[in-house]
Amino acid sequence: MGMGIDHATFRAAMARFPGAVTIITARHGAERRGITATAVCSVSAEPPSLLVCVNRKTGTCAAIREHRAFNVSLLTDPASPLALRFAGADGVTGEDKFAEGDWIEDARGLPLLAEALIGFSCDVTETMEAGSHTVFIGEIMDVRLGEGAPLVYEQSRFHRLEPL
Ligand SMILES: Cc1cc2nc3c(=O)[nH]c(=O)nc-3n(C[C@H](O)[C@H](O)[C@H](O)COP(=O)(O)O)c2cc1C
Repeated sequence: MGMGIDHATFRAAMARFPGAVTIITARHGAERRGITATAVCSVSAEPPSLLVCVNRKTGTCAAIREHRAFNVSLLTDPASPLALRFAGADGVTGEDKFAEGDWIEDARGLPLLAEALIGFSCDVTETMEAGSHTVFIGEIMDVRLGEGAPLVYEQSRFHRLEPL
């Protein structure tokens, strides 16, 4: 076993790891919560499930924990300003983040982006604490399919995915 790596090395390595950009949303009573996230991964087909890694400091994490449900909207390439907003770049937090973008509700009343490439509605089945983040495994209860090219993040920049 090695001695492990430092924070800067981790960040530099992960910056090269391309990620599909999503907005994870949840409900906190009457209010909505959401964050931009690339830590989203397919888990299993039976049952259909995915996982998300959410920083415990965020209101989104608290909302998912409380309601045991979350949605994932996969962004298309014109949505990069929205990705920045939901990452906190506009200095806007909580419900105010939703003032931009065309937000609709799924059957359970959780927010989904109308123009998302894919919208997943998930119920939490497992929760795991991992360092600064909580890993939520969600069973996919519904999927909404849209159109467009996915937005990708790599080396601190947004990219449009194109075929070779
Ligand atoms: C491209 C990108 C990907 C991100 N991925 C994640 C992620 O997977 N999980 C997470 O907890 N935060 C992730 N973040 C950071 C959150 O978006 C950020 O901490 C959060 O929106 C802050 O919200 P607040 O200002 O309302 O607390 C990501 C940010 C960016 C720009």
